[in-house]
Amino acid sequence: MREGGLIVGQVLHILSRAVTPGVSTAELDRIAEAEIRHRGAKPAFLNYRGYPATLCSSVNSEVVHGIPRKDKVLREGDIISLDLGCVLRGYYADAAITVPVGNISERSRDLVEVARASLARAVEQMWPGKRIGDISNAVQKFVEDRGYSVVREFVGHGIGRALHEAPAVPNYGKAGSGMRLSVGMVLAVEPMVTMRKPEVRVLADGWTAVTVDGSWAAHFEHTIAITEGGPQILTAYSGEDPGPASGQRSS
Ligand code: MF3
Ligand code: CO
Repeated sequence: MREGGLIVGQVLHILSRAVTPGVSTAELDRIAEAEIRHRGAKPAFLNYRGYPATLCSSVNSEVVHGIPRKDKVLREGDIISLDLGCVLRGYYADAAITVPVGNISERSRDLVEVARASLARAVEQMWPGKRIGDISNAVQKFVEDRGYSVVREFVGHGIGRALHEAPAVPNYGKAGSGMRLSVGMVLAVEPMVTMRKPEVRVLADGWTAVTVDGSWAAHFEHTIAITEGGPQILTAYSGEDPGPASGQRSS
């Protein structure tokens, strides 16, 4: 899973550099698929329950599961969530980042930064003996203390031989509740943070989840292993600290 996670992290990093005004989300999807296959892995989302692409690309008020399109062209000031999964020798990895398109507003920057930091707070909780509710509560408290909302309809998940495994990992909940974390568990934790209200609805394409009130959203996800030495981020990308137990600390 570490090998697959490394691929997802590398490809997300490549995609983040391809995000620029004028690029279409279909082009980002093309790059994502080529780079995953080039590394000997397979796209995890393509044909999953009929999903038609490698990448989920969700722009502005789209929260998750945006389907890449030729006619969806990025503009300066947009924010885009890039969500990518791969399967390598039967094991899955899943991660997402939200990146700015050119210069973005200060409000958008703050939203993205809070979403990113909420995932970091979640990871800090992921020691053996802690509980799912400790992760959930850490995200919710961090986000709501800053005036933003967490989405309820979509949650993080266990991951391994399947993309989605038990347990569910909500981004809201009570500290000290839920399943206890133990060494060897691997979870995909994915806070979805909105500027105003948390409600989302799914568009007629059957996939794209957008905020009901039109407010913009940011989404970050990592695949994280629980080890004796603490959390280990398997999908860390270039320049990001994979955590205390990783032994692959990046420069
Ligand atoms: N990270 C997302 C999730 O865990 C991506 C799934 S897209 C799908 O739900 F197409 F595979 F469903
Ligand atoms: Co996921």
